[in-house]
Amino acid sequence: MTVNSVTLCYRNKTILAPMVRIGSLPMRLLALDLGADIVYSEELIDIKMLQCKRVVNEVLNTIDFVAPNERVIFRTCERERDHVVFQMGTADAERALAAAKFVENDVAGIDINMGCPKKFSIQGGMGAALLSNPDKIELILSTLVKGICKPVTCKIRILPSLEDTLDLVKRIEKTGIAAITIHGRKKEERPQHPVHCDVIKAIAEAISIPVIANGGSHDYIKEYSDIEVFRQATAASSVMVARAAMWNPSVFRKEGLQPLEKVMKEYIKYAVRFDNHYINTKYCLCQMLREQLESPLGKKLHAAQSSQNICEVFELDGFYEEVTAELAAKRVLHEALGQEDVDQMDDADVIEMAVKFDKREYPAQITPKMCLLEWCHKEKLPQPVYETVQRPSNGLFCSVVTVAEQKYKSSMWDKSKKLAEQAAAIVCLKALGLPTGELSEGKDQYLHKRKWEGPDFLNGSEVENCLSEEGAPHKRLYARSL
Ligand SMILES: Cc1cc2nc3c(=O)[nH]c(=O)nc-3n(C[C@H](O)[C@H](O)[C@H](O)COP(=O)(O)O)c2cc1C
Repeated sequence: MTVNSVTLCYRNKTILAPMVRIGSLPMRLLALDLGADIVYSEELIDIKMLQCKRVVNEVLNTIDFVAPNERVIFRTCERERDHVVFQMGTADAERALAAAKFVENDVAGIDINMGCPKKFSIQGGMGAALLSNPDKIELILSTLVKGICKPVTCKIRILPSLEDTLDLVKRIEKTGIAAITIHGRKKEERPQHPVHCDVIKAIAEAISIPVIANGGSHDYIKEYSDIEVFRQATAASSVMVARAAMWNPSVFRKEGLQPLEKVMKEYIKYAVRFDNHYINTKYCLCQMLREQLESPLGKKLHAAQSSQNICEVFELDGFYEEVTAELAAKRVLHEALGQEDVDQMDDADVIEMAVKFDKREYPAQITPKMCLLEWCHKEKLPQPVYETVQRPSNGLFCSVVTVAEQKYKSSMWDKSKKLAEQAAAIVCLKALGLPTGELSEGKDQYLHKRKWEGPDFLNGSEVENCLSEEGAPHKRLYARSL
């Protein structure tokens, strides 16, 4: 059994449950402030994550995972890095692994949702559909446990029979996951059905990894002291709270509930600071108001059509103006700084071509950067020097490579630094009339020959250095020119 390095401990914890539309960054930060130990992100589908690019947002100080339509799918920040568990929907082990690797450095753990009974999940073989496919569960979890460094967990519902449920959790335990959340309801049961504490208890007694009990809102949990009552009723290690936290996040507060309006104001402050979309902010606030939606406050909230309006309803206009002015100033500064870098890229002395690097057009072991590096070695020139900038407005990269005091770059901006560097290397090679390594150039080009027949001018360690693309220094001085 492989057990991956666990840094996050799942024992004796109060946990904010994953909740679609509710569990975005403002709610997670508020829950942490109010006493939650661990916060789960809302479920995000692996395929969607894999379409995203990771962007460092220097204005908000966040890490954003941005979809091709520029929507932020997942936003996180340093404050929650050691507490946030990223929940994923998946039906495929390799895809889950790719998505988990993509986010793992920005989060504390990865969770797989195996309890969602919604049509969308079931049709895609995800969520509760996995419960009837234990082989797939095993494959997904063991692939993740072996493949990533952060703790892996999963969240399941109970099966129709206790015996089958126990068999399943014992199988799951063997995959090496760090903990398991049990939502104590069957797939067909709705939130208003009573939670099966006895089944959670039987599971907790049957396995040795931490069991996180879930499903206690309403029947059991209304405030902090109830969390311990639910934990004892289920003999679980920890408790995960969804609806009670959605209704009032101060359920995590040891000292007891805070007045709702105070909590709502704190939530709004995070929403403004982290540029949360006002529709999502309004949705979360409406869930908190619940029965009071017809009150004067509820009616005003209902009418709000922007974050500013929401702030006005809660007499936070001053706060809104202050924070948005601060963010706007930061945005201008970063655009200007970014533009300075971009302007440097517009140097008249740079040789420019419109090219892109497409990995499929190159043999597995050959890249333009390697060709250029090797050519420099052969010509006894200093190594190529790459300088890359990222455009703040769209997160794209442009790289300039300097070889023998001449700069080269592609006019086409790329999705990653690596791709931008390869494109710059292609421009340089083409401008110098050298092969780029591309398959269409034929296999008898000199670099391919070296690769297949062995080096003709480098010793072993030089080859290694030469082939390590990341090893190139960022700044070098050299005298020789072509
Ligand atoms: C608005 C809402 C969104 C939810 N989204 C998710 C989700 O993304 N992933 C998940 O595993 N469960 C989700 N759930 C289920 C909860 O995490 C939890 O299992 C369920 O509400 C029972 O816990 P509770 O009694 O504390 O509410 C959601 C529940 C609600 C109310």
